[in-house]
Amino acid sequence: MSNPIQPVRGMNDILPEQIVLWQHLEQVARGVLEAYGYEELRVPIIEHTELFKRSIGEYTDIVEKEMYTFQDLGGDSLTLRPEATAGIVRAAISNGLLRGQRHKLWCSGPMFRHERPQKGRYRQFYQIDVEAIGYAGPDVDAELIALSARLWRELKLDGVRLTINSLGTPASRLSYRERLIAYFRAQEQALDEDSRRRLLGNPLRILDSKNPEMRELIEAAPLLTDFLDEESRLHFDALRSALDSLGIPYTLNPRLVRGLDYYSRTVFEWVTDELGAQDAVCSGGRYDGLVVQLGGEATPAIGFALGVERVVALLQQAGNAPAARRPDVYLVVSGERAEREALRLAERLRDALPGRGVWLNLGGGNFKTQFRRADRSGARIALILGDEELERGVAGVKTLRGVGGQIDCPLALLPERIAALL
Ligand code: HAM
Repeated sequence: MSNPIQPVRGMNDILPEQIVLWQHLEQVARGVLEAYGYEELRVPIIEHTELFKRSIGEYTDIVEKEMYTFQDLGGDSLTLRPEATAGIVRAAISNGLLRGQRHKLWCSGPMFRHERPQKGRYRQFYQIDVEAIGYAGPDVDAELIALSARLWRELKLDGVRLTINSLGTPASRLSYRERLIAYFRAQEQALDEDSRRRLLGNPLRILDSKNPEMRELIEAAPLLTDFLDEESRLHFDALRSALDSLGIPYTLNPRLVRGLDYYSRTVFEWVTDELGAQDAVCSGGRYDGLVVQLGGEATPAIGFALGVERVVALLQQAGNAPAARRPDVYLVVSGERAEREALRLAERLRDALPGRGVWLNLGGGNFKTQFRRADRSGARIALILGDEELERGVAGVKTLRGVGGQIDCPLALLPERIAALL
């Protein structure tokens, strides 16, 4: 035997027992999103590298060191998407969706970032990504947050908390940027290598540093909130009073700058204490400048993405797993003729009982083995078809849960009898 091939580090297999939780989340999310008028779209997993450089920003962790970038056989530089917003905005522009129109869109699927894997942080991870493109807010900002709050309620997750901030307009950020450069330059010897490089390129990213040695310096840095322009302040005030009137509690976090460059004004994160270091389960914000940056007409927009693995972990910890799907009927078979007939009988039952789970015993086995399999499957009813039953035109019907013996039932009446028992 040759050595088994290992999975790629940071990339997970999602096995059937976990899929139940994934499907539950997807189903609840789809229901909530549709109720708020969001439409699903699907965009490619691979885009031109340039798309992410122009949107996420050259001086971000993602673009500087986390992208899966490669040259394809035609010599183009392509990248596995590290997030979905850039691709969705690109798709809206490419397909002419934005000509005088606005769209509420959502998309789900895998994203790729070459981060250091740990609990809750993977190199392939899934997001449910929600975007409202063409909406200036602040009403949509509040509604998006209400939508996410509803998701937590429907998923029965009460341990997630909302933090919000406003990043202002690019103009107000520019004056803040100058102030920040002056502040960090005065302390240049205390900066780590990453921060020194970012000082001129993108000093706001220094605030994002995860290096504990930088914490004190960052905490004493000037606050963006003090540089907000009047319009952004009004926008933010309106969002806050909408959240108050909706009864959605939040904390203001003036240090929340987010790891992607396209944001302006509203940014927010839903965080939890229950997952350790990777505490953000859902995050997003407004990106009014991105459509223009990617070659479209000026279009305001806002969105968020939910980290599926992290929300699934919360569901698991909370014990909010729905029961796994069990078959309704398990068909036990014995004898050559019966085996041939059983495939057809199972198909007839599936026709007659749409939506019901009918599992046929496959691969033979004596009665004891087959009944063990039937029991393990969780089926409510076992049907027994042997050559002898076939001869008489009946099947044995046995309830596997609760009391009740075995009775014979004419084959033609089986659907009725089964329906009555379920
Ligand atoms: P993000 O904050 O980079 O934003 O990611 C959104 C969420 O994805 C995070 O809150 C987290 O739950 C999850 N996540 C991120 N990285 C990982 C990872 N390595 N492993 C597991 N989960 C992860 C965005 O991606 C923006 N596109 C969100 C957005 C949409 N903003 C506007 N529209």
